Amino acid sequence: MANRFILNETSYHGSGAIQEIPNEVKARGFHKAMVCSDPDLIKFGVTKKVTDLLDEAGLEYVIYSDIKANPTIENVQHGVKFLQDAKADYMIAIGGGSSMDTAKAIGIIDKNPEFADVRSLEGVADTKNPCTPILAVPTTAGTAAEVTINYVITDAQKDRKMVCVDPHDLPIVAFVDPDMMSSMPKGLTAATGMDALTHAIEGYITAGAWEMSDMFHLKAIELIAKHLRGAVENTPEGREGMALGQYIAGMGFSNVGLGIVHSMAHPLGALYDTPHGVANAIILPTVMAYNAPATGTKYKDIAEAMGVDTTGMDQETYRQAAIDAVKKLSQDVGIPTDLKDIVKAEDLDFLSESAYADACRPGNPRETSVEEIKELYQSLL
Ligand SMILES: NC(=O)c1ccc[n+]([C@@H]2O[C@H](COP(=O)([O-])OP(=O)(O)OC[C@H]3O[C@@H](n4cnc5c(N)ncnc54)[C@H](O)[C@@H]3O)[C@@H](O)[C@H]2O)c1
Ligand SMILES: [Fe+2]
Repeated sequence: MANRFILNETSYHGSGAIQEIPNEVKARGFHKAMVCSDPDLIKFGVTKKVTDLLDEAGLEYVIYSDIKANPTIENVQHGVKFLQDAKADYMIAIGGGSSMDTAKAIGIIDKNPEFADVRSLEGVADTKNPCTPILAVPTTAGTAAEVTINYVITDAQKDRKMVCVDPHDLPIVAFVDPDMMSSMPKGLTAATGMDALTHAIEGYITAGAWEMSDMFHLKAIELIAKHLRGAVENTPEGREGMALGQYIAGMGFSNVGLGIVHSMAHPLGALYDTPHGVANAIILPTVMAYNAPATGTKYKDIAEAMGVDTTGMDQETYRQAAIDAVKKLSQDVGIPTDLKDIVKAEDLDFLSESAYADACRPGNPRETSVEEIKELYQSLL
Protein backbone atom coordinates (compact mmCIF):
# COMPACT_ATOMS: atom_id res chain seq x y z
CA MET A 1 0.00 0.00 0.00
CA ALA A 2 1.24 3.51 -0.79
CA ASN A 3 2.16 5.84 2.08
CA ARG A 4 -0.01 8.95 2.23
CA PHE A 5 1.33 12.29 3.48
CA ILE A 6 -0.84 15.37 4.17
CA LEU A 7 0.36 18.78 5.41
CA ASN A 8 -0.96 22.36 5.49
CA GLU A 9 -1.24 24.14 2.18
CA THR A 10 0.76 27.05 3.65
CA SER A 11 2.46 27.68 6.99
CA TYR A 12 4.32 30.64 8.48
CA HIS A 13 6.93 30.25 11.20
CA GLY A 14 8.80 32.50 13.57
CA SER A 15 8.26 35.62 15.60
CA GLY A 16 5.76 37.92 13.88
CA ALA A 17 4.15 35.17 11.78
CA ILE A 18 0.65 36.40 12.67
CA GLN A 19 1.32 39.64 10.73
CA GLU A 20 0.69 37.58 7.59
CA ILE A 21 -2.94 36.84 8.54
CA PRO A 22 -4.58 39.89 6.86
CA ASN A 23 -2.62 39.25 3.65
CA GLU A 24 -3.75 35.63 3.52
CA VAL A 25 -7.38 36.60 4.23
CA LYS A 26 -7.36 39.18 1.43
CA ALA A 27 -5.53 36.92 -1.03
CA ARG A 28 -8.08 34.17 -0.47
CA GLY A 29 -11.04 36.53 -0.80
CA PHE A 30 -12.62 35.65 2.56
CA HIS A 31 -15.30 38.00 3.89
CA LYS A 32 -16.19 37.37 7.53
CA ALA A 33 -14.31 35.36 10.14
CA MET A 34 -15.60 33.37 13.05
CA VAL A 35 -12.74 33.66 15.53
CA CYS A 36 -12.70 30.51 17.71
CA SER A 37 -10.87 31.05 20.98
CA ASP A 38 -11.36 30.07 24.61
CA PRO A 39 -12.47 32.44 27.41
CA ASP A 40 -9.06 32.61 29.14
CA LEU A 41 -7.26 33.59 25.96
CA ILE A 42 -9.73 36.39 25.47
CA LYS A 43 -9.35 37.49 29.11
CA PHE A 44 -5.53 37.50 28.93
CA GLY A 45 -5.47 39.46 25.65
CA VAL A 46 -3.89 36.67 23.58
CA THR A 47 -6.76 36.55 21.08
CA LYS A 48 -6.59 40.34 20.82
CA LYS A 49 -3.11 40.17 19.27
CA VAL A 50 -4.83 38.74 16.18
CA THR A 51 -8.12 40.66 16.29
CA ASP A 52 -6.12 43.93 16.48
CA LEU A 53 -4.59 43.00 13.13
CA LEU A 54 -8.04 42.29 11.69
CA ASP A 55 -9.30 45.64 13.01
CA GLU A 56 -6.34 47.50 11.49
CA ALA A 57 -6.96 45.84 8.14
CA GLY A 58 -10.73 46.54 8.31
CA LEU A 59 -11.61 42.84 8.22
CA GLU A 60 -14.95 41.71 9.61
CA TYR A 61 -15.17 39.05 12.33
CA VAL A 62 -17.25 37.66 15.21
CA ILE A 63 -15.81 35.90 18.27
CA TYR A 64 -16.97 32.48 19.48
CA SER A 65 -15.54 31.53 22.87
CA ASP A 66 -17.92 28.91 24.25
CA ILE A 67 -15.03 26.43 24.36
CA LYS A 68 -13.74 24.58 27.41
CA ALA A 69 -10.42 22.75 27.77
CA ASN A 70 -11.15 19.18 26.58
CA PRO A 71 -14.02 20.56 24.41
CA THR A 72 -17.41 18.85 24.38
CA ILE A 73 -20.06 17.87 21.86
CA GLU A 74 -22.17 20.83 23.06
CA ASN A 75 -19.29 23.29 22.44
CA VAL A 76 -19.21 22.03 18.85
CA GLN A 77 -22.97 22.06 18.27
CA HIS A 78 -23.38 25.58 19.65
CA GLY A 79 -20.47 26.63 17.45
CA VAL A 80 -22.08 25.29 14.27
CA LYS A 81 -25.20 27.32 14.97
CA PHE A 82 -23.10 30.41 15.80
CA LEU A 83 -21.13 30.11 12.53
CA GLN A 84 -24.25 29.73 10.44
CA ASP A 85 -26.20 32.51 12.22
CA ALA A 86 -23.21 34.85 11.79
CA LYS A 87 -22.91 33.91 8.09
CA ALA A 88 -19.13 33.65 8.51
CA ASP A 89 -17.32 32.10 5.54
CA TYR A 90 -14.09 31.07 7.33
CA MET A 91 -12.69 30.54 10.81
CA ILE A 92 -9.59 31.76 12.60
CA ALA A 93 -8.80 29.25 15.37
CA ILE A 94 -6.69 30.88 18.08
CA GLY A 95 -5.64 28.71 20.99
CA GLY A 96 -4.38 25.35 22.03
CA GLY A 97 -5.73 22.01 20.90
CA SER A 98 -9.09 22.77 22.46
CA SER A 99 -9.86 25.85 20.33
CA MET A 100 -8.38 24.39 17.16
CA ASP A 101 -10.15 21.03 17.57
CA THR A 102 -13.48 22.74 18.21
CA ALA A 103 -13.04 24.81 15.04
CA LYS A 104 -12.26 21.66 13.06
CA ALA A 105 -15.38 19.85 14.25
CA ILE A 106 -17.54 22.94 13.61
CA GLY A 107 -16.12 23.31 10.10
CA ILE A 108 -16.64 19.62 9.30
CA ILE A 109 -20.29 19.68 10.39
CA ASP A 110 -20.95 23.00 8.63
CA LYS A 111 -19.99 21.38 5.32
CA ASN A 112 -21.17 17.82 6.16
CA PRO A 113 -24.43 18.34 8.09
CA GLU A 114 -25.25 14.63 8.16
CA PHE A 115 -22.67 14.38 11.00
CA ALA A 116 -24.43 16.99 13.20
CA ASP A 117 -24.70 14.52 16.10
CA VAL A 118 -20.84 14.75 16.42
CA ARG A 119 -20.62 11.17 17.80
CA SER A 120 -20.70 9.71 14.28
CA LEU A 121 -17.40 11.52 13.56
CA GLU A 122 -15.38 9.34 15.96
CA GLY A 123 -12.59 7.35 14.31
CA VAL A 124 -12.41 7.71 10.53
CA ALA A 125 -15.62 9.35 9.29
CA ASP A 126 -16.70 9.21 5.68
CA THR A 127 -17.18 12.95 5.16
CA LYS A 128 -17.41 14.13 1.56
CA ASN A 129 -16.53 17.81 1.79
CA PRO A 130 -13.57 19.78 3.13
CA CYS A 131 -14.45 21.77 6.26
CA THR A 132 -15.10 25.51 6.30
CA PRO A 133 -11.64 27.06 5.70
CA ILE A 134 -9.61 27.42 8.90
CA LEU A 135 -6.61 29.67 9.56
CA ALA A 136 -4.95 28.22 12.67
CA VAL A 137 -2.92 30.13 15.23
CA PRO A 138 -1.55 27.86 17.99
CA THR A 139 -0.98 29.47 21.39
CA THR A 140 0.44 26.36 23.07
CA ALA A 141 3.48 24.42 21.85
CA GLY A 142 2.00 21.00 22.11
CA THR A 143 -0.84 19.48 20.15
CA ALA A 144 0.16 20.71 16.66
CA ALA A 145 -3.55 20.59 15.84
CA GLU A 146 -2.79 23.31 13.25
CA VAL A 147 -1.08 20.68 11.05
CA THR A 148 -2.80 17.44 12.05
CA ILE A 149 -5.77 15.70 10.47
CA ASN A 150 -7.07 14.82 13.95
CA TYR A 151 -9.34 16.45 16.47
CA VAL A 152 -10.49 15.28 19.88
CA ILE A 153 -13.96 15.98 21.28
CA THR A 154 -15.27 14.85 24.69
CA ASP A 155 -18.55 13.00 25.00
CA ALA A 156 -19.40 14.16 28.53
CA GLN A 157 -22.39 11.82 28.82
CA LYS A 158 -20.22 8.76 28.22
CA ASP A 159 -17.03 10.15 29.88
CA ARG A 160 -15.28 9.48 26.61
CA LYS A 161 -12.79 11.40 24.49
CA MET A 162 -13.47 10.76 20.82
CA VAL A 163 -10.45 10.87 18.51
CA CYS A 164 -11.62 11.87 15.04
CA VAL A 165 -9.36 11.42 12.02
CA ASP A 166 -10.33 13.22 8.82
CA PRO A 167 -8.13 14.88 6.17
CA HIS A 168 -11.05 17.23 5.46
CA ASP A 169 -10.42 19.04 8.76
CA LEU A 170 -6.90 20.28 7.99
CA PRO A 171 -6.41 24.05 8.48
CA ILE A 172 -5.42 25.58 5.14
CA VAL A 173 -2.91 28.00 6.69
CA ALA A 174 -1.01 27.74 9.99
CA PHE A 175 0.63 30.74 11.66
CA VAL A 176 3.11 29.26 14.14
CA ASP A 177 4.24 32.33 16.04
CA PRO A 178 6.22 31.85 19.27
CA ASP A 179 5.07 35.29 20.47
CA MET A 180 1.55 33.84 20.76
CA MET A 181 2.93 31.26 23.22
CA SER A 182 5.02 33.51 25.47
CA SER A 183 2.12 34.18 27.87
CA MET A 184 1.83 30.50 28.80
CA PRO A 185 2.59 29.91 32.48
CA LYS A 186 5.39 27.45 33.35
CA GLY A 187 3.12 24.48 34.13
CA LEU A 188 1.20 24.79 30.87
CA THR A 189 4.41 25.19 28.86
CA ALA A 190 5.80 22.04 30.48
CA ALA A 191 2.65 19.97 30.02
CA THR A 192 2.01 20.95 26.40
CA GLY A 193 5.72 20.54 25.58
CA MET A 194 5.67 17.01 26.98
CA ASP A 195 2.58 16.31 24.84
CA ALA A 196 4.69 17.29 21.82
CA LEU A 197 7.53 15.02 22.96
CA THR A 198 5.02 12.19 23.35
CA HIS A 199 3.82 12.78 19.77
CA ALA A 200 7.39 12.61 18.50
CA ILE A 201 8.31 9.46 20.44
CA GLU A 202 5.04 7.58 19.86
CA GLY A 203 5.08 8.66 16.20
CA TYR A 204 8.66 7.39 15.79
CA ILE A 205 7.86 3.89 17.09
CA THR A 206 4.25 3.57 15.87
CA ALA A 207 3.33 0.65 13.62
CA GLY A 208 2.96 2.80 10.46
CA ALA A 209 6.21 4.77 10.83
CA TRP A 210 8.42 5.04 7.72
CA GLU A 211 11.41 7.05 6.49
CA MET A 212 9.57 10.29 5.88
CA SER A 213 7.75 10.36 9.21
CA ASP A 214 10.97 9.24 10.98
CA MET A 215 12.73 12.31 9.63
CA PHE A 216 10.17 14.62 11.24
CA HIS A 217 9.99 12.75 14.53
CA LEU A 218 13.74 12.60 15.15
CA LYS A 219 14.14 16.30 14.41
CA ALA A 220 11.20 17.05 16.70
CA ILE A 221 12.68 15.02 19.58
CA GLU A 222 15.98 16.85 19.14
CA LEU A 223 14.36 20.30 19.15
CA ILE A 224 12.08 19.55 22.10
CA ALA A 225 14.88 18.00 24.20
CA LYS A 226 17.00 21.06 23.47
CA HIS A 227 14.38 23.78 23.97
CA LEU A 228 11.65 22.71 26.41
CA ARG A 229 13.59 23.74 29.52
CA GLY A 230 14.27 27.18 27.97
CA ALA A 231 10.62 27.57 26.93
CA VAL A 232 9.56 26.89 30.54
CA GLU A 233 11.91 29.75 31.54
CA ASN A 234 10.28 31.82 28.76
CA THR A 235 13.49 32.50 26.80
CA PRO A 236 12.89 33.62 23.18
CA GLU A 237 15.10 30.76 21.87
CA GLY A 238 13.17 28.24 23.95
CA ARG A 239 9.80 29.52 22.67
CA GLU A 240 11.03 29.56 19.06
CA GLY A 241 12.49 26.04 19.32
CA MET A 242 9.34 24.60 20.90
CA ALA A 243 7.01 26.30 18.38
CA LEU A 244 8.96 24.61 15.61
CA GLY A 245 9.56 21.29 17.40
CA GLN A 246 5.91 20.69 18.22
CA TYR A 247 4.87 21.59 14.65
CA ILE A 248 7.41 19.21 13.13
CA ALA A 249 6.17 16.45 15.47
CA GLY A 250 2.66 17.14 14.16
CA MET A 251 3.83 16.87 10.53
CA GLY A 252 4.93 13.36 11.41
CA PHE A 253 2.39 11.81 13.75
CA SER A 254 -0.63 13.17 11.92
CA ASN A 255 0.37 10.95 9.01
CA VAL A 256 1.29 7.74 10.83
CA GLY A 257 -0.53 7.64 14.18
CA LEU A 258 0.44 7.30 17.82
CA GLY A 259 0.18 4.59 20.49
CA ILE A 260 -1.14 3.69 23.92
CA VAL A 261 0.36 6.61 25.83
CA HIS A 262 -2.33 8.67 24.12
CA SER A 263 -4.92 5.90 24.49
CA MET A 264 -4.30 5.84 28.24
CA ALA A 265 -4.20 9.65 28.53
CA HIS A 266 -7.53 10.24 26.77
CA PRO A 267 -9.77 8.57 29.40
CA LEU A 268 -8.04 10.63 32.13
CA GLY A 269 -8.99 13.80 30.27
CA ALA A 270 -12.55 12.58 29.82
CA LEU A 271 -13.13 11.35 33.38
CA TYR A 272 -11.05 13.73 35.51
CA ASP A 273 -10.39 16.67 33.13
CA THR A 274 -6.66 15.98 33.53
CA PRO A 275 -4.70 18.31 31.21
CA HIS A 276 -3.76 16.26 28.15
CA GLY A 277 -0.03 16.96 28.34
CA VAL A 278 0.22 16.13 32.04
CA ALA A 279 -1.48 12.77 31.48
CA ASN A 280 0.84 11.92 28.58
CA ALA A 281 3.97 13.01 30.40
CA ILE A 282 3.26 10.86 33.45
CA ILE A 283 2.44 7.78 31.38
CA LEU A 284 5.20 8.09 28.73
CA PRO A 285 8.23 6.53 30.52
CA THR A 286 6.20 3.56 31.78
CA VAL A 287 4.80 2.79 28.34
CA MET A 288 8.23 3.30 26.74
CA ALA A 289 9.57 0.54 29.03
CA TYR A 290 6.60 -1.70 28.15
CA ASN A 291 7.01 -1.08 24.39
CA ALA A 292 10.82 -1.44 24.34
CA PRO A 293 10.87 -5.12 23.18
CA ALA A 294 8.90 -4.14 20.05
CA THR A 295 11.14 -1.25 18.96
CA GLY A 296 14.31 -2.82 17.50
CA THR A 297 17.09 -0.23 17.59
CA LYS A 298 14.80 2.79 17.65
CA TYR A 299 15.46 3.75 21.28
CA LYS A 300 19.12 4.26 20.33
CA ASP A 301 18.01 6.97 17.88
CA ILE A 302 15.68 8.45 20.50
CA ALA A 303 18.42 8.50 23.13
CA GLU A 304 20.79 10.22 20.69
CA ALA A 305 18.16 12.77 19.66
CA MET A 306 17.67 13.46 23.39
CA GLY A 307 21.39 14.28 23.60
CA VAL A 308 22.72 10.99 25.05
CA ASP A 309 26.07 9.65 23.81
CA THR A 310 25.24 5.97 23.15
CA THR A 311 28.76 4.94 22.11
CA GLY A 312 29.47 1.43 23.42
CA MET A 313 25.98 0.92 24.84
CA ASP A 314 24.28 -2.44 24.33
CA GLN A 315 20.57 -2.66 23.53
CA GLU A 316 19.36 -2.84 27.11
CA THR A 317 21.55 0.10 28.14
CA TYR A 318 20.53 2.46 25.33
CA ARG A 319 16.87 1.60 25.78
CA GLN A 320 17.13 2.48 29.46
CA ALA A 321 19.10 5.62 28.58
CA ALA A 322 16.28 6.81 26.29
CA ILE A 323 13.71 6.25 29.03
CA ASP A 324 15.90 7.95 31.64
CA ALA A 325 16.43 11.00 29.41
CA VAL A 326 12.65 11.37 29.05
CA LYS A 327 12.15 11.00 32.81
CA LYS A 328 14.85 13.59 33.51
CA LEU A 329 13.32 16.15 31.14
CA SER A 330 9.88 15.54 32.64
CA GLN A 331 11.22 16.00 36.18
CA ASP A 332 13.23 19.10 35.24
CA VAL A 333 10.06 20.81 33.99
CA GLY A 334 8.08 19.84 37.09
CA ILE A 335 5.78 17.02 35.90
CA PRO A 336 4.56 14.60 38.64
CA THR A 337 5.90 11.03 38.43
CA ASP A 338 2.72 9.03 39.14
CA LEU A 339 -1.06 9.06 38.86
CA LYS A 340 -1.76 8.77 42.60
CA ASP A 341 -3.44 12.18 42.84
CA ILE A 342 -5.44 11.66 39.64
CA VAL A 343 -6.76 8.10 39.29
CA LYS A 344 -9.27 6.41 41.59
CA ALA A 345 -8.70 2.64 41.88
CA GLU A 346 -12.41 1.88 41.37
CA ASP A 347 -12.22 3.46 37.87
CA LEU A 348 -9.42 1.19 36.60
CA ASP A 349 -11.66 -1.20 34.66
CA PHE A 350 -13.48 1.65 32.93
CA LEU A 351 -10.21 3.45 32.15
CA SER A 352 -8.54 0.32 30.74
CA GLU A 353 -11.47 -0.62 28.53
CA SER A 354 -11.78 2.94 27.31
CA ALA A 355 -8.04 3.09 26.51
CA TYR A 356 -8.23 -0.21 24.63
CA ALA A 357 -11.13 1.14 22.52
CA ASP A 358 -9.22 4.36 21.73
CA ALA A 359 -8.38 5.15 18.08
CA CYS A 360 -4.62 5.49 18.85
CA ARG A 361 -4.28 1.97 20.32
CA PRO A 362 -3.94 -0.01 17.06
CA GLY A 363 -0.85 2.06 16.21
CA ASN A 364 1.02 0.87 19.30
CA PRO A 365 4.16 -1.07 18.32
CA ARG A 366 3.43 -3.83 20.85
CA GLU A 367 0.20 -5.84 20.82
CA THR A 368 -1.65 -5.11 24.00
CA SER A 369 -4.80 -6.06 25.92
CA VAL A 370 -7.26 -4.53 28.37
CA GLU A 371 -5.56 -6.51 31.15
CA GLU A 372 -2.06 -5.27 30.29
CA ILE A 373 -3.27 -1.69 30.04
CA LYS A 374 -4.79 -2.08 33.50
CA GLU A 375 -1.45 -3.32 34.84
CA LEU A 376 0.26 -0.28 33.31
CA TYR A 377 -2.19 2.08 35.05
CA GLN A 378 -1.76 0.12 38.29
CA SER A 379 2.01 0.44 38.16
CA LEU A 380 1.56 4.23 38.26
CA LEU A 381 -0.63 4.27 41.39
N1 LIG B 1 -5.79 17.66 17.16
C1 LIG B 1 -4.78 16.95 17.60
O1 LIG B 1 -4.04 16.38 16.80
C2 LIG B 1 -4.53 16.84 19.06
C3 LIG B 1 -3.33 16.27 19.51
C4 LIG B 1 -3.13 16.20 20.88
C5 LIG B 1 -4.10 16.67 21.75
N2 LIG B 1 -5.26 17.20 21.30
C6 LIG B 1 -6.31 17.73 22.20
O2 LIG B 1 -6.05 19.10 22.47
C7 LIG B 1 -6.55 19.46 23.76
C8 LIG B 1 -5.45 20.05 24.61
O3 LIG B 1 -4.92 21.19 23.99
P1 LIG B 1 -3.74 22.04 24.67
O4 LIG B 1 -2.89 21.13 25.46
O5 LIG B 1 -3.11 22.82 23.60
O6 LIG B 1 -4.47 22.99 25.71
P2 LIG B 1 -5.91 23.72 25.68
O7 LIG B 1 -6.22 24.24 24.34
O8 LIG B 1 -6.90 22.80 26.31
O9 LIG B 1 -5.65 24.95 26.65
C9 LIG B 1 -5.44 24.74 28.05
C10 LIG B 1 -5.53 26.07 28.80
O10 LIG B 1 -4.39 26.85 28.47
C11 LIG B 1 -4.78 28.18 28.18
N3 LIG B 1 -3.82 28.75 27.23
C12 LIG B 1 -3.59 28.32 25.96
N4 LIG B 1 -2.63 29.08 25.38
C13 LIG B 1 -2.25 30.01 26.29
C14 LIG B 1 -1.34 31.09 26.27
N5 LIG B 1 -0.56 31.37 25.20
N6 LIG B 1 -1.24 31.86 27.39
C15 LIG B 1 -1.99 31.60 28.48
N7 LIG B 1 -2.88 30.59 28.56
C16 LIG B 1 -3.01 29.81 27.47
C17 LIG B 1 -6.17 28.04 27.63
O11 LIG B 1 -6.89 29.25 27.79
C18 LIG B 1 -6.75 26.91 28.45
O12 LIG B 1 -7.30 27.40 29.64
C19 LIG B 1 -7.08 18.16 24.37
O13 LIG B 1 -8.48 18.10 24.20
C20 LIG B 1 -6.37 17.10 23.56
O14 LIG B 1 -7.04 15.86 23.58
C21 LIG B 1 -5.48 17.31 19.96
FE1 LIG C 1 -1.33 14.71 22.27
